[in-house]
Amino acid sequence: MKKQRIAVAYSGGLDTSVIVHWLKERYNAEIVTVTGNLGQRKELTGLAEKAYKTGARKVYIQDLREEFVREYLWRSLKAGALYEHTYPMATSIGRPLLAKALVDVARRERCAAVAHGCTGKGNDQVRFEAAVAALAPELTVLAPLREWEFRSREEEIAYCERHGIPVAATKKSPYSIDENVWGTSIECGVLEDPMVEPPEDAYQRTVSPKKAPDKVQYITIEFRDGIPVALNGRAMKGFDLIDSLNSIAGANGVGRMDLVENRLVGIKSREIYEAPAAVTLHFAHRELERLTLDKEVMHVKAKIAHDYANLIYNGLWFSPLRMAYDAFIDETQKVVNGLVKLKLYKGTIEISGRTSPNSLYDTRLATYTEEDSFDHKASEGFIKIFSLPLKTYYRVNRNGFINKPTLTRKRGKKSEL
Ligand code: ARG
Repeated sequence: MKKQRIAVAYSGGLDTSVIVHWLKERYNAEIVTVTGNLGQRKELTGLAEKAYKTGARKVYIQDLREEFVREYLWRSLKAGALYEHTYPMATSIGRPLLAKALVDVARRERCAAVAHGCTGKGNDQVRFEAAVAALAPELTVLAPLREWEFRSREEEIAYCERHGIPVAATKKSPYSIDENVWGTSIECGVLEDPMVEPPEDAYQRTVSPKKAPDKVQYITIEFRDGIPVALNGRAMKGFDLIDSLNSIAGANGVGRMDLVENRLVGIKSREIYEAPAAVTLHFAHRELERLTLDKEVMHVKAKIAHDYANLIYNGLWFSPLRMAYDAFIDETQKVVNGLVKLKLYKGTIEISGRTSPNSLYDTRLATYTEEDSFDHKASEGFIKIFSLPLKTYYRVNRNGFINKPTLTRKRGKKSEL
C-alpha cells in the first residue's frame, strides 16, 4: 500500500525536527517539509540537507518575501493595524502565508494531512488552523506539540540523540524568538516576569537607545496609494525598503516594544518586540494620512484599524470581513501620496515635515496672517446651530440638574424616583 504523506511546516529548530521523525514513526508516513522565507535573518542554507537527514522524503523551501510584503504587510500598513495599539504583528501576519504555502505543497504532493509546531497555548495554532480550514478544509491538521509525550527540551534532545536527528550545535537562546522582515518577537525566560526589565541580550536587531548615535538622523519616506515606494529619495522594492529601513531605524534604537498583551486563548502574556521598519512606516503613514484624508474618513478608518488588527491577531486573515475592509481601505488610500520627513534619535521618531499633492491643508484657511480667507463671521451662525441641542437640553434640565418626575405617595409625601 502506498504510504500516506504529511506536509510539515518546518523551521529546522528542535521542535519541528522532532516532529518530522515523530510523525513518520507514528503514522508510518512520508514527510514533506515546507519552509517559508519571510525575510528572517536565520540562514536557510543547509536547511534542506538537515531536513533530509532528519528523515524528510521531500523538502520545499519557498521564497515568500515578495508576496509577504505585497499581499500582507502593505495591507496591514494601509489599515494602520497595530494590536492593542502597539504590536505591528510580524508573527501574526506571517502565519496565514506560511499556512497557505503549506496547503499549496500538501495539494501538490497529495498529502492527507498538514502539521505545525505550534504550542497548545498560543495564538499561532489558531492562525495556522483557521487558515487551513479556510483554504483546504479537506486536510487534517496535526499539532504534535499538543499531544506528544515530551515534557521538556531535554527530553526532545534525548529523542533526537536516540534517533540520530541532527540538533543544532549552537547554544540555545534563553528566549523563544520568532522573526521575519516585519519584526522579531521575543518571549520566555526572565521576560516572563512583567516586572523584570528586558536584559539587553533579549534584543536581536536594535541598538540600545543609550548606545545609539548622539546625533539626529533625518530620513524621508515617499508613499504612493498608501504604500512606501522610496526611502531617502531612492525608489526601492518593498522588501528592500523594509530591510534597509530596519537597519537605519534599528541603528537608532527605534522600534522596541515591551508589551503585556491579551492572547486569543485567554492568557495575558508578556512579549518584547523589535520592529524598527514597521514602527517607522506606521508612524510615517499615519502622518501622511493626517494631511491627506478627509476628517470623517480618517475617523472611521481609525475604528476599522482596531478591528483589522484583531482580525490579523486572531487568525482571521482569510475572512470575508478582512477582504471587505481591504476594499474600503484601498479606496481611502488613493489620496495617500506624498513625502514624510522624519527625525530618528536615540529610540524616538519625530515628524519633521510632510508634503503631498493631495494635501487638504489649506494655508489660506489655516493662517492667522492677512492672507486669511476663512469667513470668521460665518462662525457665529454655525456655533448657534451647532450648540442648539445643548441649549435645549439645559433649558429643560435646569442647568445640569436632571429633572426627575415626581410621584405623590399616599400619605401625601413627595419622593423622587
Ligand atoms: N505574541 C505574538 C503573537 O501572538 C508572538 C508569538 C510568537 N512569539 C515567539 N517569541 N515565538 O503574535
